[in-house]
Amino acid sequence: MDKKIKTAVIFGTRPEAIKMAPLVLELKNRPEFEPVTIVTAQHRQMLDQVLELFDITPDYDLNLMKPNQNLWSLTSDILLQTKEIFEKINPDIVLVHGDTTTAFASALSAFYARVPIGHVEAGLRTFNKDYPFPEEINRVLADAVSDLHFAPTEGSVQNLLNSGIKEGVSSGALDNAYEPGRRIYKTGNTVIDALLYTVKKGVDLSEFGLSDNLKTILLTSHRRENFGKPLENICDAILELVQKNKDIEIVYPVHLNPNVRNTVFNKLSGVERVKLIEPLEYAPFCALMKKAHIILTDSGGVQEEAPSLGVPVLVLRDETERPEAVECGCVKLVGTNKEKITGTVQKLLDDVNFYNSMKMAVNPYGDGLASKRIVDIILSRYIQQ
Ligand code: UD1
Ligand code: UDP
Repeated sequence: MDKKIKTAVIFGTRPEAIKMAPLVLELKNRPEFEPVTIVTAQHRQMLDQVLELFDITPDYDLNLMKPNQNLWSLTSDILLQTKEIFEKINPDIVLVHGDTTTAFASALSAFYARVPIGHVEAGLRTFNKDYPFPEEINRVLADAVSDLHFAPTEGSVQNLLNSGIKEGVSSGALDNAYEPGRRIYKTGNTVIDALLYTVKKGVDLSEFGLSDNLKTILLTSHRRENFGKPLENICDAILELVQKNKDIEIVYPVHLNPNVRNTVFNKLSGVERVKLIEPLEYAPFCALMKKAHIILTDSGGVQEEAPSLGVPVLVLRDETERPEAVECGCVKLVGTNKEKITGTVQKLLDDVNFYNSMKMAVNPYGDGLASKRIVDIILSRYIQQ
């Protein structure tokens, strides 16, 4: 093969960067590929933390983030700016990730440009268009316009098949680039590639001043559907828990979204044994997950990572598109009802058998080779031309 496969990799937020970084590194190692890294910078600081860790310098940085941005302007900015780049670089394939506005708008833009699209972390679903908002619809739309679907688990493969994306169906955009054929591949989740890359790096947590005599409960919450009352309920649950249990401390790296920060700082600033800290770089965050006694989160990525580290996870949502770890027993959905949260955390603190039944190292999400698999699949499709 003389001509290299020009592969545009697009991402914009922290979780996409973490999960796409191993793929960028893999593409860079393969002589058959010419990777072009495009960041929308839907996130700025939280994206830059990840780029630095993985030593990735983007070829194009759209620098789109605005303070307290809205979905309309973000979506249209991404559409218009990626159009210019696609016209300039003329990629052979565009890779997008997951369910953010960057993923959906970049996929739509590539579709308009008639460029084949590979969707990494395809097929996750709650089948409820409002939860999570707007991510459920973002991923449905990204899947609808994509040509290759890199599904992390068997469940996500089935979701794609059930939504009418059939293996063996040819796609117009791909007819010239690939032999018509299979479109859905089970690859594992690249989050495990990123986690394994990162936990190897030693991290010193001493700067956080965590006490050896206290049990650390790690908290993250940022979902749009939890803004307002649900997030207030979560904070009230935390207040009750630290008051009742003098042997716990809460560590909460607070997301930079002002809708999160206003509520959280109003409710929890200055509370004893509640540490509100800035979003952590990925390596110390992984070390903190490993050290935690319990994790409370509404994050998607954390639900996938923490089970590998053997820490019980309570998910602050009523539904999840990641049922695998719930089925294994180490993740439970507790929603945002204050009593449900405090009751379940208290049971974990008081009932050793219950705690041990959830504290198991389980990893249904991958083996660390997802990026390699994705690159092999793309290569095999191009070699068959
Ligand atoms: C976005 C994604 C969400 C994902 C989350 C991961 C959408 C619609 N939402 O939500 O799916 O789970 O990222 O964290 O795609 N901000 C900063 N600096 C940063 C990042 C954010 O200041 O590095 C602030 C800005 O004021 C920004 C706001 O947060 O306008 C919201 O960012 P946005 O990406 O629109 O939404 P998230 O809630 O971060
Ligand atoms: N994360 C991080 N620092 C933090 C909090 C989270 O590096 O302070 C990582 C976490 O390990 C996971 C990812 O960010 O890989 C999840 O991002 P987020 O919760 O913002 O988004 P989601 O996964 O819900 O889309």
